Amino acid sequence: MDHARHVFRIVLLVAIILAVVLLARGFLVPKSYGLYGRYRGASVAEQMNLRPPMHAGAAACADCHEDQAKKRTAGAHKNVSCEICHGPLGAHVKADGSVVKPPIDRSFTLCARCHRKIEGRPAKFPQVVLDQHVNGPVEGKVCLQCHDPHSPKP
Ligand code: HEC
Ligand code: HEC
Ligand code: HEC
Ligand code: HEC
Repeated sequence: MDHARHVFRIVLLVAIILAVVLLARGFLVPKSYGLYGRYRGASVAEQMNLRPPMHAGAAACADCHEDQAKKRTAGAHKNVSCEICHGPLGAHVKADGSVVKPPIDRSFTLCARCHRKIEGRPAKFPQVVLDQHVNGPVEGKVCLQCHDPHSPKP
């Protein structure tokens, strides 16, 4: 009979510890924990609001630059987003509607970054050996003499 009392005490102790742990957990674990996974779900929205979105995609440019947008979707650069060459919309059109001129890189280095012949590039990707392709010095705006950046096929 004595043994039964010992066992009862231990079971009671374990039950009390369990109750305290569960109660403390209820208070300490943030509400949104586990909403999406093993982290605080609300932190997603917090991080999102910390920095306003900068990039908006090519469709957002079409609202104000119909000509360039039409040319681009009809041409070889249809998959090259405007923001790759001109930077993000957020830096150009501010939240209050004011407009800051975006960068325009007219130098051959812009085009060379993607089209300079490099052995490691897929053979099918259009590439040129710069000084063989251009008759004359490879400098300044030379690529724009023959190519329109928004519809580059000559
Ligand atoms: C709300 C309208 C609006 C949207 C949307 C917009 N722009 Fe503009 N953009 C303008 C205005 C206005 C100017 C003329 C600014 C000036 O001349 O000072 C301009 C000028 C430009 C210029 C020429 C700058 C120069 O030096 O002449 C480029 C390049 C340009 N925008 C690119 C873009 C790209 C890329 C996007 C999309 C990411 C975009 N714009 C979205 C209104 C817009
Ligand atoms: C491959 C890079 C590239 C892409 C992609 C690109 N642009 Fe441009 N953009 C240029 C360059 C380079 C110039 C300067 C052209 C010149 O001076 O002849 C320019 C000029 C402009 C201008 C000034 C007016 C003009 O036509 O010269 C505007 C506005 C503009 N771009 C908007 C856009 C918009 C909107 C998109 C997407 C629909 C876009 N660009 C995509 C490289 C690019
Ligand atoms: C961010 C990378 C990038 C930049 C910068 C870029 N291009 Fe392109 N260009 C592409 C892609 C991607 C294609 C489509 C390739 C395909 O169809 O497989 C392309 C296609 C072309 C084509 C058509 C090739 C063909 O025969 O189909 C020409 C010409 C061209 N670009 C010239 C230029 C010039 C000139 C510049 C600079 C004003 C430039 N590109 C800047 C990525 C780029
Ligand atoms: C004197 C005019 C001229 C200049 C300058 C020029 N191009 Fe071209 N480019 C052409 C012509 C014409 C073609 C199409 C015929 C061909 O493939 O050679 C072409 C084709 C291309 C192609 C497609 C090649 C392919 O395999 O499909 C790319 C990429 C290109 N040019 C990039 C550039 C770059 C980058 C510059 C600047 C460094 C430049 N071009 C300067 C005339 C020019």
